[in-house]
Amino acid sequence: MKLSALRKKLNFFGDSSEWKDGITPSIGGGDAKMLIRLLNKVKRENMAALEVGSWVGNGSTRVITNHIRDLHAVFYCVDTWAGSENVPFHQEFRKRYNTFFEVFADNVRAYNGQDIVRPLVMPSTQACVLFPDKSLDFVFIDGNHGYSYVKQDILAWLPKIKPGGVICGHDCDACYADLDPKLRAESDPHVEDDYYENKGHPGPKAFHAGVVKAVHEVFDGKATLWFKLKGSTSVWSHRPGSLMDRLRVSIGGGAPASREESVGGKAWPKPTPWPAAN
Ligand SMILES: C[S@@+](CC[C@H](N)C(=O)[O-])C[C@H]1O[C@@H](n2cnc3c(N)ncnc32)[C@H](O)[C@@H]1O
Repeated sequence: MKLSALRKKLNFFGDSSEWKDGITPSIGGGDAKMLIRLLNKVKRENMAALEVGSWVGNGSTRVITNHIRDLHAVFYCVDTWAGSENVPFHQEFRKRYNTFFEVFADNVRAYNGQDIVRPLVMPSTQACVLFPDKSLDFVFIDGNHGYSYVKQDILAWLPKIKPGGVICGHDCDACYADLDPKLRAESDPHVEDDYYENKGHPGPKAFHAGVVKAVHEVFDGKATLWFKLKGSTSVWSHRPGSLMDRLRVSIGGGAPASREESVGGKAWPKPTPWPAAN
């Protein structure tokens, strides 16, 4: 086998040169597998998924699209496409592309995702009011990683999940309750940063202190932190509803889904039109 073919086979996402300007995907194979595992819990015809934070469309957007593309699914991608203020390389991208919605659109077209993906170019808190409560089967949160953004995003989207559905997110790479008290005291003033670098205390070398604290607080320490169970992922998850709700959804039951309507006959929000192909 040629080296390039072998590289492509080993790389879950394929060769980065296939992506617009060679921008590499920002989630790894372990996270992709975890997303698929969580999607499988709620997978069904006409299901409705949404993510906050789609970046250039070749990471979580691609994984979710490819996994639900044969289900007549609805998949909203919410992003300002202006980058997070606390991530310097996002701001470099912003200078280069202004909005990178077009880069996202070109990448989504590269894997024929445009029939499923419904972009919403707006802040997360603006998008969430467009959706009725209990209208979504699956939400993935991966926007700004500062504490107040993560907390706000989880609280905004949690009521939108159907009982037994899945809310999950990225970059919960430590357990707040398990942090060394000195590390917690030192990292707490920096939770609005994208991540925190440990200055030598026992525990993780670097971690997303804002995500870790917000997930801990909102779910009172009861969210599933998959890094504890699987190691190779930083995805967290929670399933609202009763045990019966979860069982019903997992065996294919639950409120009937519709590709045209969300709940109570209400039409899905109108997506932002796709920009012209470059
Ligand atoms: C970490 S990246 C997302 C990575 C993406 N999930 C992937 O797998 O490639 C974070 C994204 O969140 C977006 N973002 C930041 N703050 C936001 C907000 N308040 N509302 C919507 N999107 C936001 C940024 O523009 C950026 O594209």
